[in-house]
Amino acid sequence: MIIWDDSLSTGVAIIDEQHKMLFQKFNEFSEAISGMTARETAGEILDFLQFYVTWHFGQEEKCMNEYQCPIAAANKRAHAEFTNTFSQFYTQWQEGTMTPTLVSRTYLELEKWLLNHVLRTDTQLRPCIKKAD
Ligand SMILES: [Fe+2]
Ligand SMILES: [Fe+2]
Repeated sequence: MIIWDDSLSTGVAIIDEQHKMLFQKFNEFSEAISGMTARETAGEILDFLQFYVTWHFGQEEKCMNEYQCPIAAANKRAHAEFTNTFSQFYTQWQEGTMTPTLVSRTYLELEKWLLNHVLRTDTQLRPCIKKAD
């Protein structure tokens, strides 16, 4: 489970809101796969995430470019990698080929990646915004 706090803040309110939404959906998915809600619910959350992750990445990349963030290119590369991994997971989910253990293991990896990425990469927006002020 990911809990948002100020250490995850990028300094851009709309980007922070998007991260909060991502974390909320990741948490809901985690609840769904641990059997607290139906498999159908888990599928709906993944459908949403598949769209939302891509959309958020695009918004954030634009923002980093606007603020001439030195990490913009690295951020974009990381997004492409994550999108690949996530899409594979999504496809396998739809095909129903994963065991529950594999689902939760892969999910945990994705969650860990997301948290680390926001903490180490996305927050590097903060100094760029200060400079632009
Ligand atoms: Fe992000
Ligand atoms: Fe990012």
